[in-house]
Amino acid sequence: MIELDDLDILPLSLEHNFWTWSAQKKVHPIPIKNAKGVYFWDIQGKRYLDFNSMVMNVNIGHGDERVIEAMVDQIRELPFAGPGMATKPRAVLGKKLAEITPRGLTKFLYTLGGADANENAIKMARARTGKFKILARYRSYHGATLGAAALTGDPRRTAWEPMVMPGVVHFLDPYRYRSTFHRTNQQIPDAEFTLDYLNHLEEIIRFEDPNTIAGILIETVTGTNGVLVPPPGYLEGVRLLCDQYGILMICDEIMSGFGRTGEWFAVNHWLVSPDIMTMAKGLTSGYAPLGAVAMTEEVASTFNEKVFEGGLTYNGHPVSLAAAIAVIKVMQEDKLVEKVGETGKVMADMLAELADHHPSIGEVRSIGLFGILELVKNRKIKEPLTPYGRSNSTMNAFRQKCLDQGLFLYTHWHTVLVIPPLIITPDQLAEGVSILDRALEITDQVADL
Ligand SMILES: Cc1ncc(COP(=O)(O)O)c(C=O)c1O
Repeated sequence: MIELDDLDILPLSLEHNFWTWSAQKKVHPIPIKNAKGVYFWDIQGKRYLDFNSMVMNVNIGHGDERVIEAMVDQIRELPFAGPGMATKPRAVLGKKLAEITPRGLTKFLYTLGGADANENAIKMARARTGKFKILARYRSYHGATLGAAALTGDPRRTAWEPMVMPGVVHFLDPYRYRSTFHRTNQQIPDAEFTLDYLNHLEEIIRFEDPNTIAGILIETVTGTNGVLVPPPGYLEGVRLLCDQYGILMICDEIMSGFGRTGEWFAVNHWLVSPDIMTMAKGLTSGYAPLGAVAMTEEVASTFNEKVFEGGLTYNGHPVSLAAAIAVIKVMQEDKLVEKVGETGKVMADMLAELADHHPSIGEVRSIGLFGILELVKNRKIKEPLTPYGRSNSTMNAFRQKCLDQGLFLYTHWHTVLVIPPLIITPDQLAEGVSILDRALEITDQVADL
C-alpha cells in the first residue's frame, strides 16, 4: 500500500504531473479512490455511475476479482519476460484470440495500446504490398502518436501538422445525418446512399493511383466522431474495392471490439473479414495496458524470411497477456457479448425516448452498448450545439450537471457518448438516463425548436 493521506492525492498529483489532452492550468481531475462494477467512488465517498467505461475500455466492469487474481498469479509466477521469449500467457492468448477474431485472422502482434497497434498495422500493410499510401476517413480517431495522428481525420491530427507521418489521404464517411451529398435528398434509399459513398471512395482510389495505396483503414463503427454505424453494403463494398485494387483492408476495432456492439468484433455484424484488425481497450478491459494487431497468415508471411524491424521493450508483457486471457474468460463465462444484444435494445429505447422529450437532441444512434446523442441548436437545420471541434459553456454546464448528480460520461464537441460497461443492468441504465434527462434541460434552453 502507498502511504499517503487521501486528501493529499489531488494537490500532490497537480504539483508534479503533466496531464494529457489538457491545458495544464485548467485540469480538474477526479481524485478517485476505488471502483467496482459500473461505479467508482472519489475520496469523499461520492459515487459515480460510469457511462463511459472509464476510457471506453472497462468493458467487463471495474474490480472483477477473477481478472485481479489471474494478474496476481502471473506476477507471482513470472512478472516479466522479454518480448522475444515464449511464455505461458503468450501461448494461450494467441490461441484464444484466433478463436474469437474474424475468420482468417490467425497471427497476433502484441502492442502497448491502440495507437501503436495502428502504427504497426500500417507498417505491415506497407511491407506486404510494397506500396505506401493509406486511405483513412475524416471522421476518425486512430491514436495520438505521430503515425496514428496522421491517420486520424479529426482536429487531433491538425493540431500537430505538418509534423505527422506522410502518405495518408482522407475520405468522407457515410454519415447519413449530415451527408454532404444528400442535403437535398435526405430520404435516399440505403442502397443508393451506400453506393454514393463507395463511388466517392473509388474515385479517390483512382485519383491517388491504386498502385500507390497499401491500405484502407477504417474504424468499423466510428467511435468518438459520432458512433457512425456503416450502412448496409458499405463494408462489403470497401472489401470489394480493396480486392479489386490490391489494397489491404484494415479495421480499427480498438473501441468497437470486445463485445461493445453486441458481437465480439463489430465487423462480424456484416460478415466481412479484414486483412488486418487492430484492438486494445476492451482486450484487457483496462486491467493492464495492451493492444494487438491481428493479421492473416498471408500478411504475416511477408516476414517469414525477412526481419520485421519493430518492437518495444514491453511488447507481450506477461501480466497484460494474463489479464487479456482472464478478461476473455470472464466475457465467455458471463455471456457478456450475448447480454449486450439484450441491454443494447433497452438502451436504444431509452435514448429514443430522451430524443422524444428533448428538442436539443437532433439524433440518437446506437449499436449494442455503443451510443451517442447528437445535440443541436435547431432540429430543422441541424446546427450543432457547438461549432466543429469545440466545446462551449452550455456543453460544459451540461457535463458538470451530470457529474454533480453522479453520472460520469464523455462529451465530444456537440455530442454525448453513452458507452457503459457491458455488465450494466436495465435499472442502472435507467438511473443514468434519468440524470441525462435532467441535465438535458440545460441544452434545451439554447435549442430553437
Ligand atoms: C478507434 C480508436 N483507435 C485508436 C485509439 C488509440 O488507442 P490508445 O489510446 O490505446 O493509443 C483509440 C483510443 O481512444 C480509439 O478509440
